[in-house]
Amino acid sequence: MTANQFSCEGIELTLFRYPKQQESNLQAWDAADEHLIKHIIESSQIESSQIESSKSPVNTAIINDNFGALQCGLVAIEPSWPLFVETDAKTSLLGAELNLAANQLPSDNIQRFHSRELLPDTLQLVLMKLPKNLSYFAHQLQRLSQVLPKGTQVLIGAKAKTINKAILALIEKNLGAANASLTWKKTRIITCVADGNKRPLAQAVTWPVEAFNLNISNLSNVFAANKLDIGARIMLDNLPEGEFNNIIDLGCGNGILGLRAAQVYPKANIHFVDDSEMAVASSRHNWQANGLAPNQAQFHWDDCLTHLDEDLVADLVLCNPPFHQGEAITDHIAWQMFLDARKRLAPGGMLQVVGNRHLAYHVKLKRLFKNCNTVASNGKFLILQAIK
Ligand SMILES: C[S@@+](CC[C@H](N)C(=O)[O-])C[C@H]1O[C@@H](n2cnc3c(N)ncnc32)[C@H](O)[C@@H]1O
Repeated sequence: MTANQFSCEGIELTLFRYPKQQESNLQAWDAADEHLIKHIIESSQIESSQIESSKSPVNTAIINDNFGALQCGLVAIEPSWPLFVETDAKTSLLGAELNLAANQLPSDNIQRFHSRELLPDTLQLVLMKLPKNLSYFAHQLQRLSQVLPKGTQVLIGAKAKTINKAILALIEKNLGAANASLTWKKTRIITCVADGNKRPLAQAVTWPVEAFNLNISNLSNVFAANKLDIGARIMLDNLPEGEFNNIIDLGCGNGILGLRAAQVYPKANIHFVDDSEMAVASSRHNWQANGLAPNQAQFHWDDCLTHLDEDLVADLVLCNPPFHQGEAITDHIAWQMFLDARKRLAPGGMLQVVGNRHLAYHVKLKRLFKNCNTVASNGKFLILQAIK
């Protein structure tokens, strides 16, 4: 079996991570996806025979489906399955669309929601993968508590080693009583039954960056939850001198780099871009809350710079790249960010990157730009500049 061949309970799929061409043999799904699909097929509520006879599977929400394995699995069981898919990551949305198409599966009955849109109140079942960020998980459960009728089953797939009493208590506190299945392939499924009580939603966490007179507010799935990232701090202390008119904050998180850029280069137009919808929303909020000029910022929910307007040409790209995708440690996103930055920069334009020394970004930048200068370092982090 290759890294792309998914096979579970008679369902055969070819599944890719997104972007598809990344150099990795990591899978686009994990055993918890298989466990959830196996559970669905075996469960008494939605047996495959029942599905075949009634042809009307229940309204089902799918949350945190990395690259669409759950969507593809359910649509492969029954193409008319009404699915309500919630994700914060654009790459997850694009990956699911890619995988549905690659397996010739229809998406007509799939409705998509980002992480701040409320799901409908007509759901009868929820399938969910446990995210790494537990504050975000609690927030997702609170959001579900606002819409799920009492008695709705929520099935949460996760690695067995991540499930403990504290997780079950967190689920009970935010949605309803929960218990975990036996272990299968080192994963377990938590079954929660919504108790019908609406919980208040967690508020964004707000903290000051006194040195720059900025207030930063982070929604629950945004990087650097309650304090400035160390890499970002060094970047803020070393912004390049000069005049810049079009700046991209690539992988903006809460927007800290772009906000500071707006102070340092007051005439510049700033583009904030992130894979996380909550990050883009936080950047927009922070721009407004810090009283910056409303018409000098644009906000993009995107995978790197893939879908930005063709005409957009930048003279400075600021980037503090991620070095993981979900649970997988990978440098392919950084590589794509550097490639996209080179494509969007005007001749003479600058990409400035902060990174942990051991990530060796200077090797990548030299390969791409044929030049790379270290403009600051503190032992652990480097600030690198490459000119197009
Ligand atoms: C290390 S954080 C930096 C955040 C912020 N710029 C800072 O310095 O605090 C990396 C950011 O890249 C975003 N990211 C990850 N994959 C991405 C992708 N494919 N396209 C755009 N942004 C991505 C993450 O959501 C995260 O906000």
